[in-house]
Amino acid sequence: MPNTEEILARTGGRPLTHVLYSAERIAERVAEVGREITDAIPADEELLVLGTLKGSFIFLSDLVRQIRRPMEVDFLVASSYGSETTSSGKVDLLYDNTAPIEGRHVILVEDIVDSGTTLNRLLPLLDARGPRSLEVCALLHKHIAPDLYREPRWVGFDCPQEFVIGYGLDHSEQFRNLPFIGAIEP
Ligand code: IMP
Ligand code: MG
Repeated sequence: MPNTEEILARTGGRPLTHVLYSAERIAERVAEVGREITDAIPADEELLVLGTLKGSFIFLSDLVRQIRRPMEVDFLVASSYGSETTSSGKVDLLYDNTAPIEGRHVILVEDIVDSGTTLNRLLPLLDARGPRSLEVCALLHKHIAPDLYREPRWVGFDCPQEFVIGYGLDHSEQFRNLPFIGAIEP
């Protein structure tokens, strides 16, 4: 676990309420999920791993290195949060991926499933492009989404209903670079 001095140096003095997942614990879990994905997709069929920016950039980069098979990686930019800590209920698609989806196994990689608005917007759009399969891999799942289009097949951690930062997750675009995941008072 990081010590208090290390945490405050990285947050610029803003205290965390607590550290939820250490870098070591995240690495172990990401390796497990990577093994599960490797086993789940037939080796001779095409895989596209699609990350949602910006929040999934660190998770995705660690995860794809734990998936032992050929793949293509691409990104989508979906924005549902400004500087608020509650979901705006609106999702803008700022960048649409260019990698072909039809006939391929597609795994959408999300940092966190909160209200479910982002997944409920993106999944039907991707499904309409005729993937061979379309599954979600989420690092964190708060289990508060009332009505998800599809439950994530792979989840890193079931997360408490707190505002979490680090390992790619931000608050007002800050704290993405923390190597661990912590909670702050919003
Ligand atoms: P949803 O559409 O409400 O499920 O939320 C999706 C997006 O909101 C995530 O991809 C995150 O970028 C952001 N988000 C939701 N909860 C948190 C949180 O606790 N910390 C940081 N970002 C969050
Ligand atoms: Mg975000």
